[in-house]
Amino acid sequence: SHLTVNQYLKNHIRTVADWPARGVQFRDITPLLQDPKVFRVLIDAFVHRYMDKNLRPDVVAGLDARGFILGAVVAYELNVGFVPIRKKGKLPFTTVQETYELEYGSATVELHTDAVKAGDKVLLIDDLIATGGTMMAGKKLLEKLGASVMEGAAIVDLPELGGSAKLKASGLPLFTLLDFA
Ligand code: PRP
Ligand code: ADE
Repeated sequence: SHLTVNQYLKNHIRTVADWPARGVQFRDITPLLQDPKVFRVLIDAFVHRYMDKNLRPDVVAGLDARGFILGAVVAYELNVGFVPIRKKGKLPFTTVQETYELEYGSATVELHTDAVKAGDKVLLIDDLIATGGTMMAGKKLLEKLGASVMEGAAIVDLPELGGSAKLKASGLPLFTLLDFA
């Protein structure tokens, strides 16, 4: 049968009701990674876009933790380096830090101060955009080091949570493969 790549990928996302809290429909991407044919289609969707000479980044930054899985493979295929943006307390060298608000409380993410150079054009990757707080914090960290984020990329957008609109309003172009209303 005939399916778009986007619908094919969407069919391999598992929705788990009431996890990690009541009322949340958790969009689980692990089935996309588990099946080698699906995993290849997924990675190729990103690689195809960023191979273009006008969109090829200098470096790929991945957001802890699922952004590491995608970002590292995409960076490898683009023949550029990968840098991790980690939750607080995990990176050993000197870091820049950014704290942002979650639904309950706050979170801090860190980036090594030598991870990118001033002027680098960075592709920032995560699996999913909800409120946009995580990706916005990653963008701020990269900008503290003088790099510019050329695009934010994710598999899933949850547009009703307003994150993608907020990120776009901040001037960040976004590329996502599918959304759930
Ligand atoms: C999830 C997801 C994104 C973030 C999106 O990670 O993988 O990183 O939430 O939410 P936001 O747009 O509202 O910031 P989570 O915080 O569950 O951490 P994990 O990757 O360590 O599981
Ligand atoms: N992160 C924030 N909200 C999420 C959701 N509904 N599914 C998966 N990851 C998330």
